[in-house]
Amino acid sequence: VTRAVPMGCGHHLPDRVVENAEFAATLDTTDEWIRSRSGIERRHFAAKDEKTSDLAIPAAERALKAAGLEASDIDAIVLATATPDETFPATATRVQQAIGMRSGFAFDIQAVCAGFIYAVATANSLIVSGQAKTVMVIGAETFSRILDWTDRSTCVLFGDGAGALILTAEQGAGTLTDRGVMSVKLHSDGDHHDLLYVDGGPSSTGRAGCVRMQGQKVFQHAVNKLAAVAHEALDDIGATSADVDWMVPHQANSRIIESTARKTGLPMEKVVMTVQNHGNTSAASIPLALSETVAAGRIAKGDLLLMEAIGGGLAWGAAVMRW
Ligand code: ACO
Repeated sequence: VTRAVPMGCGHHLPDRVVENAEFAATLDTTDEWIRSRSGIERRHFAAKDEKTSDLAIPAAERALKAAGLEASDIDAIVLATATPDETFPATATRVQQAIGMRSGFAFDIQAVCAGFIYAVATANSLIVSGQAKTVMVIGAETFSRILDWTDRSTCVLFGDGAGALILTAEQGAGTLTDRGVMSVKLHSDGDHHDLLYVDGGPSSTGRAGCVRMQGQKVFQHAVNKLAAVAHEALDDIGATSADVDWMVPHQANSRIIESTARKTGLPMEKVVMTVQNHGNTSAASIPLALSETVAAGRIAKGDLLLMEAIGGGLAWGAAVMRW
């Protein structure tokens, strides 16, 4: 069978680091509240003139270097973002141009915080169907552009950043020991629109708008739906939580991550946690967490990874991939 096998990853964070305490100067909040409710201690924010593509391009270049590839080896770029540079064209085409990719195709995916899982699912389908051999999957966001700085219940939770992962076609035996993407499960439910959305856009208000969220309700959906979809993705390949070496979850809230790990039957030693340093970077959070952990030498070739995410839509999903 054809498998989409990981070749390398990379990430990039904007320079500016904002500690929780900075918010206390303008909002009725404290470092203690933010830390205890979300696990977040700091986040990176892009500079005024720094766009989503400016974060994605260095992440893509580092992934190419880690994989030992040239831009001409990439057949497609699939970029997940809810904060594109422009309404169109796709931010992926900015990355395509900047890295010097002169053929193939590039497009964006919009599934907010679940975007990276949706992008991996899409890249996997392109590879398994033979439409592309090697695909660059990117999650990149400048969420700081859609935050309401007067709303303490949302603006303290998010951050900016980008991560990239290169997948390529390899033949596997079709067993659990194969490297590559083994299983991907996606879901969405538009009934929950009002729990998490942006109150703007080109065809509604004509301006970008700001994040609106009913945090407690999103929290409840997250802990139930993430554990369920994680089990679904593992069951699909006859695996159990005992087979998983690392959970690389979407980094929204440490309490959601801990609760999902518990419900999935994974000890916290097997869970990658970067939310304290990045905040919630939406579609960028999983590839950022993955790239940092790989760079630290903690994820080894052959490790089985469980990735999961939920966000606006609601949209959620999980992927199992052997590194
Ligand atoms: N500082 C101080 N107080 C605050 C702050 C703040 N920054 N924000 C809210 N509060 C207050 C509220 O106003 C409320 O006050 P009240 O009781 O007087 O009304 C009180 O704190 C408690 O608020 P809750 O919303 O009940 O707090 P909770 O413990 O649920 O934590 C949080 C809030 C962190 C948002 C949590 O619900 C959460 O993480 N939800 C999930 C959100 C999430 O993960 N979203 C992203 C997933 S999807 C995606 O990634 C886009």
